[in-house]
Amino acid sequence: MNVLLLGSGGREHAMAWKIRKSRLLNNLYIAPGNAGTASLGTNVAIDVTDFSAMKRFSLDHDIDMIVVGPEVPLVEGVYDYFHEDEDICHIAVIGPSRKGAQLEGSKDFAKRFMTFYDIPTARFKTVTLDSVEEGNAFLDSLPSPYVLKADGLAAGKGVLILDDLNEAKQSLWEMLNGKFGAASQSVVIEEFLSGIECSVFVLTDGKSYKILPVAKDYKRIGEGDTGLNTGGMGAVSPVSFADDIFMEKVRNRIVEPTIEGLRKERIDYKGFIFLGLIDVRGEPKVIEYNVRMGDPETEVVIPLIQSDLLELFTAVASETLDEKTLETDDRYAVTVMMVSGGYPERYENGKTIEGLNDIHDSIVFHAGTKNIGDEVVTSGGRVLSVTSYGKTMEEALETSYKNIAKINFEHSYFRKDIGFDLHTK
Ligand code: AMP
Ligand code: GLY
Repeated sequence: MNVLLLGSGGREHAMAWKIRKSRLLNNLYIAPGNAGTASLGTNVAIDVTDFSAMKRFSLDHDIDMIVVGPEVPLVEGVYDYFHEDEDICHIAVIGPSRKGAQLEGSKDFAKRFMTFYDIPTARFKTVTLDSVEEGNAFLDSLPSPYVLKADGLAAGKGVLILDDLNEAKQSLWEMLNGKFGAASQSVVIEEFLSGIECSVFVLTDGKSYKILPVAKDYKRIGEGDTGLNTGGMGAVSPVSFADDIFMEKVRNRIVEPTIEGLRKERIDYKGFIFLGLIDVRGEPKVIEYNVRMGDPETEVVIPLIQSDLLELFTAVASETLDEKTLETDDRYAVTVMMVSGGYPERYENGKTIEGLNDIHDSIVFHAGTKNIGDEVVTSGGRVLSVTSYGKTMEEALETSYKNIAKINFEHSYFRKDIGFDLHTK
Protein backbone atom coordinates (compact mmCIF):
# COMPACT_ATOMS: atom_id res chain seq x y z
CA MET A 1 0.00 0.00 0.00
CA ASN A 2 1.01 3.60 -0.56
CA VAL A 3 0.13 5.81 2.37
CA LEU A 4 -0.03 9.59 2.76
CA LEU A 5 0.12 10.70 6.39
CA LEU A 6 -0.96 14.27 7.22
CA GLY A 7 0.74 16.30 9.95
CA SER A 8 4.14 17.29 11.28
CA GLY A 9 4.39 16.66 15.01
CA GLY A 10 5.51 13.98 17.43
CA ARG A 11 2.16 12.28 16.92
CA GLU A 12 2.82 11.91 13.21
CA HIS A 13 6.41 10.73 13.73
CA ALA A 14 5.09 8.02 16.06
CA MET A 15 2.45 7.01 13.50
CA ALA A 16 5.00 7.00 10.69
CA TRP A 17 7.32 4.83 12.83
CA LYS A 18 4.53 2.30 13.33
CA ILE A 19 3.22 2.41 9.74
CA ARG A 20 6.80 1.85 8.51
CA LYS A 21 6.76 -1.52 10.32
CA SER A 22 3.63 -2.70 8.55
CA ARG A 23 3.92 -5.70 6.26
CA LEU A 24 1.36 -4.00 4.00
CA LEU A 25 3.39 -0.82 3.40
CA ASN A 26 4.94 0.03 0.11
CA ASN A 27 5.60 3.79 0.04
CA LEU A 28 5.05 6.23 2.88
CA TYR A 29 4.68 9.97 2.31
CA ILE A 30 4.25 12.55 5.05
CA ALA A 31 2.78 16.02 4.42
CA PRO A 32 4.51 18.12 5.57
CA GLY A 33 6.39 15.96 8.12
CA ASN A 34 9.53 16.86 10.06
CA ALA A 35 13.18 15.75 10.32
CA GLY A 36 12.07 12.56 12.10
CA THR A 37 9.51 11.47 9.54
CA ALA A 38 12.04 12.17 6.76
CA SER A 39 13.98 9.10 7.92
CA LEU A 40 10.91 6.85 7.57
CA GLY A 41 9.38 8.03 4.32
CA THR A 42 9.27 10.98 1.97
CA ASN A 43 8.21 14.38 3.27
CA VAL A 44 6.10 16.33 0.82
CA ALA A 45 5.47 20.07 0.99
CA ILE A 46 1.68 20.04 0.96
CA ASP A 47 -0.37 22.00 3.47
CA VAL A 48 -2.74 19.74 5.44
CA THR A 49 -5.73 21.81 4.30
CA ASP A 50 -4.80 22.00 0.62
CA PHE A 51 -7.16 19.25 -0.55
CA SER A 52 -6.73 19.84 -4.27
CA ALA A 53 -2.92 19.50 -3.95
CA MET A 54 -3.53 16.30 -1.97
CA LYS A 55 -5.77 14.98 -4.73
CA ARG A 56 -3.15 15.65 -7.43
CA PHE A 57 -0.41 14.09 -5.31
CA SER A 58 -2.55 11.05 -4.50
CA LEU A 59 -3.32 10.38 -8.16
CA ASP A 60 0.31 10.93 -9.22
CA HIS A 61 1.67 8.60 -6.52
CA ASP A 62 -1.03 5.97 -6.51
CA ILE A 63 -1.98 6.60 -2.87
CA ASP A 64 -4.27 3.97 -1.30
CA MET A 65 -4.83 5.52 2.10
CA ILE A 66 -4.67 8.92 3.77
CA VAL A 67 -4.09 8.90 7.52
CA VAL A 68 -5.04 12.20 9.13
CA GLY A 69 -3.06 13.33 12.19
CA PRO A 70 -4.44 16.77 13.17
CA GLU A 71 -8.06 17.92 13.55
CA VAL A 72 -8.13 20.92 11.21
CA PRO A 73 -8.30 18.99 7.89
CA LEU A 74 -11.01 16.77 9.41
CA VAL A 75 -13.13 19.70 10.56
CA GLU A 76 -12.62 21.23 7.09
CA GLY A 77 -13.92 18.04 5.48
CA VAL A 78 -10.97 16.11 4.02
CA TYR A 79 -12.92 12.84 4.38
CA ASP A 80 -15.91 14.21 2.44
CA TYR A 81 -13.65 15.79 -0.19
CA PHE A 82 -12.18 12.39 -1.09
CA HIS A 83 -15.38 10.42 -0.53
CA GLU A 84 -17.47 12.60 -2.85
CA ASP A 85 -15.07 12.77 -5.81
CA GLU A 86 -15.28 9.76 -8.13
CA ASP A 87 -11.60 10.12 -9.17
CA ILE A 88 -10.39 9.64 -5.59
CA CYS A 89 -13.20 7.95 -3.66
CA HIS A 90 -11.27 4.65 -3.85
CA ILE A 91 -8.69 6.17 -1.47
CA ALA A 92 -9.43 5.34 2.17
CA VAL A 93 -9.33 8.27 4.55
CA ILE A 94 -8.66 7.38 8.19
CA GLY A 95 -10.57 10.07 10.06
CA PRO A 96 -14.22 11.04 10.44
CA SER A 97 -16.44 12.93 8.03
CA ARG A 98 -16.94 16.68 8.50
CA LYS A 99 -20.12 15.99 10.46
CA GLY A 100 -18.31 13.54 12.76
CA ALA A 101 -15.48 16.00 13.24
CA GLN A 102 -18.01 18.39 14.79
CA LEU A 103 -17.50 16.39 17.99
CA GLU A 104 -14.27 18.40 18.25
CA GLY A 105 -15.10 21.32 15.95
CA SER A 106 -18.09 22.47 17.99
CA LYS A 107 -18.20 22.08 21.77
CA ASP A 108 -21.93 22.84 21.63
CA PHE A 109 -22.51 20.00 19.14
CA ALA A 110 -20.52 17.64 21.38
CA LYS A 111 -22.47 18.67 24.50
CA ARG A 112 -25.83 18.26 22.75
CA PHE A 113 -24.76 14.86 21.43
CA MET A 114 -23.75 13.72 24.92
CA THR A 115 -26.96 15.03 26.47
CA PHE A 116 -29.11 13.30 23.84
CA TYR A 117 -27.31 9.94 24.23
CA ASP A 118 -27.10 10.20 28.01
CA ILE A 119 -23.30 10.23 28.13
CA PRO A 120 -21.97 11.56 31.45
CA THR A 121 -20.49 15.08 31.18
CA ALA A 122 -20.57 18.41 33.03
CA ARG A 123 -23.83 20.40 33.06
CA PHE A 124 -23.71 23.21 30.53
CA LYS A 125 -25.38 26.09 28.75
CA THR A 126 -24.44 27.49 25.35
CA VAL A 127 -24.86 31.22 24.83
CA THR A 128 -24.41 33.86 22.11
CA LEU A 129 -24.50 37.66 22.35
CA ASP A 130 -28.30 37.52 22.12
CA SER A 131 -28.55 35.29 25.16
CA VAL A 132 -25.76 36.70 27.32
CA GLU A 133 -28.20 37.43 30.17
CA GLU A 134 -29.14 33.73 30.32
CA GLY A 135 -25.42 32.98 30.42
CA ASN A 136 -24.91 35.32 33.35
CA ALA A 137 -27.88 33.77 35.16
CA PHE A 138 -26.42 30.28 34.58
CA LEU A 139 -23.08 31.47 36.00
CA ASP A 140 -24.98 32.82 39.05
CA SER A 141 -26.43 29.34 39.61
CA LEU A 142 -23.02 27.60 39.62
CA PRO A 143 -20.42 27.39 42.36
CA SER A 144 -16.90 28.68 41.61
CA PRO A 145 -14.73 28.00 39.61
CA TYR A 146 -16.37 28.75 36.26
CA VAL A 147 -15.52 27.05 32.96
CA LEU A 148 -15.95 28.97 29.69
CA LYS A 149 -15.26 27.30 26.35
CA ALA A 150 -15.16 28.81 22.89
CA ASP A 151 -17.52 26.71 20.78
CA GLY A 152 -15.17 26.41 17.78
CA LEU A 153 -11.54 25.41 17.26
CA ALA A 154 -9.15 27.77 19.03
CA ALA A 155 -5.84 25.87 18.76
CA GLY A 156 -6.24 24.46 22.28
CA LYS A 157 -6.51 27.93 23.84
CA GLY A 158 -10.27 28.40 23.95
CA VAL A 159 -10.95 27.21 27.51
CA LEU A 160 -10.91 29.62 30.46
CA ILE A 161 -11.31 28.58 34.09
CA LEU A 162 -12.04 31.49 36.43
CA ASP A 163 -12.46 31.65 40.20
CA ASP A 164 -14.33 34.93 40.42
CA LEU A 165 -17.94 35.31 39.28
CA ASN A 166 -17.57 38.88 38.01
CA GLU A 167 -14.41 37.98 36.16
CA ALA A 168 -16.25 35.03 34.58
CA LYS A 169 -19.06 37.35 33.40
CA GLN A 170 -16.50 39.81 32.03
CA SER A 171 -14.66 37.00 30.18
CA LEU A 172 -17.93 35.66 28.80
CA TRP A 173 -18.65 39.12 27.39
CA GLU A 174 -15.15 39.39 25.88
CA MET A 175 -15.37 35.93 24.32
CA LEU A 176 -18.73 36.68 22.74
CA ASN A 177 -17.22 39.89 21.37
CA GLY A 178 -14.44 38.10 19.54
CA LYS A 179 -11.69 37.26 22.07
CA PHE A 180 -11.10 34.04 20.11
CA GLY A 181 -12.46 35.36 16.82
CA ALA A 182 -15.34 33.45 15.25
CA ALA A 183 -14.57 30.44 17.50
CA SER A 184 -16.09 32.24 20.51
CA GLN A 185 -19.20 33.73 18.90
CA SER A 186 -20.85 30.90 20.81
CA VAL A 187 -19.59 30.01 24.28
CA VAL A 188 -20.27 26.86 26.29
CA ILE A 189 -20.48 27.54 30.03
CA GLU A 190 -19.83 24.44 32.10
CA GLU A 191 -20.04 23.24 35.64
CA PHE A 192 -16.48 22.65 36.96
CA LEU A 193 -15.64 19.00 37.58
CA SER A 194 -13.01 18.01 40.07
CA GLY A 195 -10.88 14.89 39.60
CA ILE A 196 -7.92 13.39 37.78
CA GLU A 197 -7.91 13.29 33.97
CA CYS A 198 -6.94 10.63 31.45
CA SER A 199 -7.12 10.15 27.68
CA VAL A 200 -8.91 7.18 26.15
CA PHE A 201 -8.50 6.53 22.43
CA VAL A 202 -10.98 4.48 20.45
CA LEU A 203 -10.42 3.26 16.90
CA THR A 204 -13.73 2.70 15.12
CA ASP A 205 -15.05 1.73 11.70
CA GLY A 206 -18.43 3.20 12.66
CA LYS A 207 -19.80 -0.21 13.72
CA SER A 208 -17.32 -1.83 16.06
CA TYR A 209 -14.39 -0.41 17.97
CA LYS A 210 -11.12 -1.11 19.79
CA ILE A 211 -10.07 0.73 22.94
CA LEU A 212 -6.35 1.52 22.86
CA PRO A 213 -4.10 1.64 25.95
CA VAL A 214 -5.15 4.49 28.28
CA ALA A 215 -2.77 7.43 28.67
CA LYS A 216 -2.33 10.51 30.79
CA ASP A 217 -0.68 13.67 29.55
CA TYR A 218 0.95 16.53 31.46
CA LYS A 219 -0.14 19.85 30.01
CA ARG A 220 1.41 22.50 32.24
CA ILE A 221 4.91 23.85 31.67
CA GLY A 222 5.97 23.66 35.31
CA GLU A 223 6.63 20.80 37.68
CA GLY A 224 3.73 19.78 39.90
CA ASP A 225 1.35 20.84 37.09
CA THR A 226 1.95 24.56 37.53
CA GLY A 227 2.32 27.49 35.14
CA LEU A 228 1.01 27.96 31.63
CA ASN A 229 -0.72 25.34 29.51
CA THR A 230 1.31 23.79 26.71
CA GLY A 231 0.65 21.33 23.92
CA GLY A 232 1.82 18.60 26.35
CA MET A 233 5.07 18.04 28.26
CA GLY A 234 4.94 14.27 28.58
CA ALA A 235 2.67 11.26 28.87
CA VAL A 236 2.45 7.82 30.41
CA SER A 237 0.50 4.65 29.64
CA PRO A 238 -1.16 2.69 31.14
CA VAL A 239 -2.72 4.82 33.89
CA SER A 240 -2.98 3.31 37.38
CA PHE A 241 -6.43 4.66 38.29
CA ALA A 242 -8.00 3.57 34.98
CA ASP A 243 -8.50 0.05 36.33
CA ASP A 244 -10.89 -2.65 35.09
CA ILE A 245 -13.87 -1.31 37.04
CA PHE A 246 -13.32 2.23 35.75
CA MET A 247 -12.80 1.02 32.17
CA GLU A 248 -15.96 -1.08 32.27
CA LYS A 249 -17.89 2.10 33.10
CA VAL A 250 -16.07 3.94 30.30
CA ARG A 251 -17.02 1.19 27.85
CA ASN A 252 -20.67 0.89 28.88
CA ARG A 253 -21.53 4.51 29.61
CA ILE A 254 -19.32 6.38 27.15
CA VAL A 255 -17.75 4.36 24.32
CA GLU A 256 -20.75 2.24 23.35
CA PRO A 257 -23.32 5.07 23.54
CA THR A 258 -20.94 7.24 21.49
CA ILE A 259 -20.59 4.67 18.70
CA GLU A 260 -24.32 3.95 18.84
CA GLY A 261 -25.08 7.69 18.69
CA LEU A 262 -22.87 8.16 15.63
CA ARG A 263 -24.61 5.24 13.97
CA LYS A 264 -28.10 6.56 14.76
CA GLU A 265 -27.15 10.03 13.49
CA ARG A 266 -25.87 8.35 10.30
CA ILE A 267 -22.50 10.00 10.77
CA ASP A 268 -19.70 8.45 8.74
CA TYR A 269 -16.91 7.85 11.23
CA LYS A 270 -13.85 5.77 10.36
CA GLY A 271 -11.03 6.88 12.57
CA PHE A 272 -10.02 7.77 16.11
CA ILE A 273 -12.21 9.12 18.87
CA PHE A 274 -10.27 10.73 21.69
CA LEU A 275 -12.17 10.87 24.97
CA GLY A 276 -10.77 13.42 27.40
CA LEU A 277 -12.11 11.94 30.62
CA ILE A 278 -12.15 12.98 34.24
CA ASP A 279 -12.48 10.54 37.12
CA VAL A 280 -14.94 12.12 39.54
CA ARG A 281 -14.81 9.84 42.62
CA GLY A 282 -14.67 6.71 40.46
CA GLU A 283 -17.21 7.93 37.91
CA PRO A 284 -15.87 8.73 34.42
CA LYS A 285 -17.21 11.89 32.77
CA VAL A 286 -16.35 13.36 29.38
CA ILE A 287 -14.47 16.67 29.49
CA GLU A 288 -14.13 16.76 25.71
CA TYR A 289 -14.17 14.74 22.52
CA ASN A 290 -11.41 15.06 19.97
CA VAL A 291 -11.52 13.36 16.60
CA ARG A 292 -7.83 12.46 16.33
CA MET A 293 -5.11 10.99 18.47
CA GLY A 294 -3.61 13.14 21.25
CA ASP A 295 -0.12 14.55 21.35
CA PRO A 296 2.02 13.52 23.26
CA GLU A 297 -0.23 10.56 24.18
CA THR A 298 0.33 9.00 20.74
CA GLU A 299 4.03 8.76 21.51
CA VAL A 300 3.21 6.26 24.28
CA VAL A 301 0.03 4.63 22.96
CA ILE A 302 1.32 3.71 19.49
CA PRO A 303 4.51 2.05 20.82
CA LEU A 304 2.29 -0.17 23.00
CA ILE A 305 0.34 -1.49 19.99
CA GLN A 306 1.75 -4.74 18.67
CA SER A 307 -0.80 -5.35 15.92
CA ASP A 308 -0.01 -4.17 12.41
CA LEU A 309 -1.47 -0.63 12.28
CA LEU A 310 -2.14 -0.67 8.53
CA GLU A 311 -4.00 -3.94 8.93
CA LEU A 312 -6.20 -2.28 11.53
CA PHE A 313 -6.68 0.80 9.32
CA THR A 314 -7.56 -1.39 6.34
CA ALA A 315 -10.18 -3.09 8.48
CA VAL A 316 -11.50 0.32 9.54
CA ALA A 317 -11.86 1.32 5.90
CA SER A 318 -13.67 -1.91 4.97
CA GLU A 319 -15.80 -1.90 8.14
CA THR A 320 -14.40 -5.25 9.28
CA LEU A 321 -12.67 -4.12 12.45
CA ASP A 322 -14.68 -6.69 14.43
CA GLU A 323 -12.63 -9.42 12.71
CA LYS A 324 -9.35 -8.04 14.08
CA THR A 325 -7.80 -8.34 17.49
CA LEU A 326 -5.79 -5.58 19.06
CA GLU A 327 -2.53 -6.96 20.46
CA THR A 328 -0.83 -4.72 23.00
CA ASP A 329 2.42 -4.71 24.94
CA ASP A 330 1.99 -5.24 28.67
CA ARG A 331 4.86 -2.95 29.63
CA TYR A 332 4.65 0.73 30.55
CA ALA A 333 5.55 3.40 28.05
CA VAL A 334 6.40 6.97 28.95
CA THR A 335 7.43 9.99 26.96
CA VAL A 336 9.16 13.17 28.12
CA MET A 337 9.00 16.22 25.89
CA MET A 338 12.09 18.37 25.37
CA VAL A 339 11.00 21.92 24.55
CA SER A 340 12.61 25.21 23.53
CA GLY A 341 13.43 27.51 26.45
CA GLY A 342 10.71 30.14 26.80
CA TYR A 343 7.94 27.93 25.39
CA PRO A 344 4.89 28.25 25.54
CA GLU A 345 5.71 31.94 25.28
CA ARG A 346 8.53 33.41 23.18
CA TYR A 347 11.35 31.07 22.11
CA GLU A 348 13.94 30.85 19.38
CA ASN A 349 14.11 28.33 16.53
CA GLY A 350 17.10 27.08 14.57
CA LYS A 351 19.10 25.61 17.46
CA THR A 352 21.35 22.72 16.44
CA ILE A 353 20.40 19.44 18.13
CA GLU A 354 23.26 17.16 19.15
CA GLY A 355 23.44 13.69 20.61
CA LEU A 356 20.64 12.03 18.65
CA ASN A 357 22.96 9.23 17.56
CA ASP A 358 23.92 8.30 21.14
CA ILE A 359 20.48 7.18 22.23
CA HIS A 360 20.00 3.61 23.49
CA ASP A 361 16.76 1.99 24.68
CA SER A 362 14.59 5.04 23.97
CA ILE A 363 12.78 6.12 20.83
CA VAL A 364 13.15 9.79 19.99
CA PHE A 365 10.10 11.11 18.19
CA HIS A 366 10.62 14.48 16.56
CA ALA A 367 8.00 17.19 17.10
CA GLY A 368 9.45 20.56 16.06
CA THR A 369 12.59 19.77 14.06
CA LYS A 370 13.86 20.18 10.54
CA ASN A 371 16.90 19.17 8.54
CA ILE A 372 19.26 21.92 7.43
CA GLY A 373 22.11 20.40 5.47
CA ASP A 374 23.49 17.62 7.65
CA GLU A 375 22.12 19.12 10.84
CA VAL A 376 18.85 18.67 12.68
CA VAL A 377 17.67 21.98 14.12
CA THR A 378 14.77 23.05 16.31
CA SER A 379 11.73 24.47 14.55
CA GLY A 380 9.04 24.68 17.21
CA GLY A 381 8.25 24.95 20.91
CA ARG A 382 7.96 21.24 21.48
CA VAL A 383 11.07 19.72 19.92
CA LEU A 384 11.59 16.04 20.80
CA SER A 385 9.50 13.43 22.56
CA VAL A 386 11.71 10.83 24.24
CA THR A 387 9.79 7.56 24.70
CA SER A 388 10.88 4.50 26.70
CA TYR A 389 9.42 1.21 27.83
CA GLY A 390 9.74 -0.31 31.30
CA LYS A 391 8.35 -3.04 33.51
CA THR A 392 7.30 -0.18 35.77
CA MET A 393 6.54 3.46 34.99
CA GLU A 394 9.52 4.49 37.09
CA GLU A 395 11.89 2.24 35.15
CA ALA A 396 10.65 3.65 31.84
CA LEU A 397 11.05 7.22 33.12
CA GLU A 398 14.59 6.52 34.25
CA THR A 399 15.51 5.39 30.74
CA SER A 400 13.99 8.50 29.13
CA TYR A 401 15.76 10.84 31.56
CA LYS A 402 19.07 9.01 31.06
CA ASN A 403 18.81 9.52 27.30
CA ILE A 404 17.62 13.13 27.55
CA ALA A 405 20.88 13.88 29.36
CA LYS A 406 22.72 12.96 26.14
CA ILE A 407 20.71 15.31 23.91
CA ASN A 408 21.73 18.94 23.65
CA PHE A 409 20.32 22.06 22.11
CA GLU A 410 20.64 25.59 23.43
CA HIS A 411 18.06 26.55 26.11
CA SER A 412 16.36 23.14 26.15
CA TYR A 413 13.89 22.44 28.96
CA PHE A 414 11.91 19.40 30.11
CA ARG A 415 9.82 18.46 33.14
CA LYS A 416 11.53 16.11 35.58
CA ASP A 417 8.31 14.96 37.25
CA ILE A 418 6.27 13.24 34.52
CA GLY A 419 4.02 10.63 36.15
CA PHE A 420 4.37 12.28 39.59
CA ASP A 421 0.68 11.82 40.45
CA LEU A 422 0.44 8.16 39.45
CA HIS A 423 1.90 5.00 40.83
CA THR A 424 2.92 1.71 39.30
CA LYS A 425 1.18 -1.46 40.38
P1 AMP B 1 -10.66 21.12 26.77
O1 AMP B 1 -10.01 21.98 25.72
O2 AMP B 1 -12.13 21.00 26.70
O3 AMP B 1 -9.92 19.83 26.95
O4 AMP B 1 -10.29 21.83 28.16
C1 AMP B 1 -8.96 22.07 28.53
C2 AMP B 1 -8.75 21.67 29.95
O5 AMP B 1 -9.60 22.42 30.79
C3 AMP B 1 -9.10 20.22 30.24
O6 AMP B 1 -8.06 19.33 29.94
C4 AMP B 1 -9.41 20.27 31.71
O7 AMP B 1 -8.22 20.22 32.47
C5 AMP B 1 -10.02 21.62 31.89
N1 AMP B 1 -11.49 21.52 31.87
C6 AMP B 1 -12.29 21.60 30.80
N2 AMP B 1 -13.58 21.46 31.16
C7 AMP B 1 -13.61 21.29 32.48
C8 AMP B 1 -14.64 21.09 33.45
N3 AMP B 1 -15.93 21.07 33.12
N4 AMP B 1 -14.28 20.92 34.73
C9 AMP B 1 -12.97 20.96 35.09
N5 AMP B 1 -11.96 21.16 34.25
C10 AMP B 1 -12.26 21.33 32.95
N1 GLY C 1 -2.74 15.97 24.63
C1 GLY C 1 -3.99 16.56 24.39
C2 GLY C 1 -4.30 16.80 22.97
O1 GLY C 1 -3.67 16.28 22.07
O2 GLY C 1 -5.26 17.52 22.72
